Amino acid sequence: MASPQRDSLAPLSIDPICRIEFGPGHIDRLPELITTTGRHRAFVVTDRGLRAAGVVERVLKILDSGGIEYAVHDEVAPNPSTGDVDAGARRARAFGPAAVVALGGGSVLDAAKGISLLVGNPDAVAADAGRLWEAADGLPLIAIPTTSGTGAETNGFGVIEDAGACRKVYLGHPSVKPRIALLDPELTLGLPAPATAATGIDALVHGIESLASRGANPVSVAYATQAVTMVSGALPTAYRDGSDLDARAALMLGAHLAGQALTLSGLGLVHGIGHALTAHTGTPHGVALAAVLEEVMVFSAPAARDAYEQVGRAMRRTPPADGDWARATVQAVREISGTLDVKRPLRELGADRGMLPAIAAGAVADAVTKNAPLLPSEAEVLEILTRVY
Ligand SMILES: NC(=O)c1ccc[n+]([C@@H]2O[C@H](COP(=O)([O-])OP(=O)(O)OC[C@H]3O[C@@H](n4cnc5c(N)ncnc54)[C@H](O)[C@@H]3O)[C@@H](O)[C@H]2O)c1
Repeated sequence: MASPQRDSLAPLSIDPICRIEFGPGHIDRLPELITTTGRHRAFVVTDRGLRAAGVVERVLKILDSGGIEYAVHDEVAPNPSTGDVDAGARRARAFGPAAVVALGGGSVLDAAKGISLLVGNPDAVAADAGRLWEAADGLPLIAIPTTSGTGAETNGFGVIEDAGACRKVYLGHPSVKPRIALLDPELTLGLPAPATAATGIDALVHGIESLASRGANPVSVAYATQAVTMVSGALPTAYRDGSDLDARAALMLGAHLAGQALTLSGLGLVHGIGHALTAHTGTPHGVALAAVLEEVMVFSAPAARDAYEQVGRAMRRTPPADGDWARATVQAVREISGTLDVKRPLRELGADRGMLPAIAAGAVADAVTKNAPLLPSEAEVLEILTRVY
């Protein structure tokens, strides 16, 4: 069965993409980019890991020399919670009018979107996520990703953990879609190999799930195909030699294109399971995706043959002698995952068997799963989870 929408000429309505500034050393342009938002002060959202890696200090020096007044909020936790967003918003409100500069991985970018939105809505808290989609505008946002993975710089929502409810909520608004994505691969040179692997697999999954998504369309397919080529080509090199700037650059641009693709098409079951697994065990996002990627592809293959052929061709695989592209593509993905040493059984990720039914239920209920090429039942997801336990 082919995915019906991906080649169709059905009407499309696509917002223009945000301004992209890509290139080694482009971070030096940050002061002038801030002024293009109409603001001359910056509220910098980041995390402690970026401080320790020296990335924050580099960027603050640039703001100092550009004469930009700033405040720094560096208390965003990985997989940020509604509490993290509320704490950041309190500080941003106290700082006053500014552009929000999000400097970090997907966790920081997502939290910064929520913080920006809450500043525009003084009485709101992050737990109001459901009603904030209709709220007043947030502060203008500049996104500076320091991982090559999530593509969070391409959209106006954050995936935020509602710790009380043990689930992820989508906190966003069109106004907090970043005005500018500043993509400087030099900022990723110090990302350790395991984090390069986990975040890079996230980008690869975005390309694969976007191509197989029910929401795929000719524009998303174009982005996703190029993304799979760039990410699958550069990721093993960037993992092996983190100082290879060309590989870092290709990976960063590929991850960004994958983000553009997912924003247009939606994703699928790998992300549905990944979100639920992270909510229950705290597993880093990319590691959670890697745990089930090939097994979900095998499950989905009957409804995603064309898409998986396109993935395999984009990965520059030679056509399989038996014509079975789905099998060959799953094998190609398994090889990359093996090279990166990123796949772990669920029992090593803090999941106990008793949790699996709740993870399966969470995956099926997650909004991201509705674009899966083959819609799963809870029993089918439980079977996948048991296989990788
Ligand atoms: N909004 C979206 O479209 C979207 C899409 C996918 C995932 N996400 C979310 O993104 C989050 C995951 O983001 P992530 O995978 O980028 O990881 P992350 O932001 O959680 O960062 C992981 C760790 O890497 C460190 N780090 C980041 N950049 C570094 C650098 N250059 N050098 C050294 N250390 C660095 C951080 O300090 C942190 O400790 C999850 O919460 C996930 O739900 C959002």
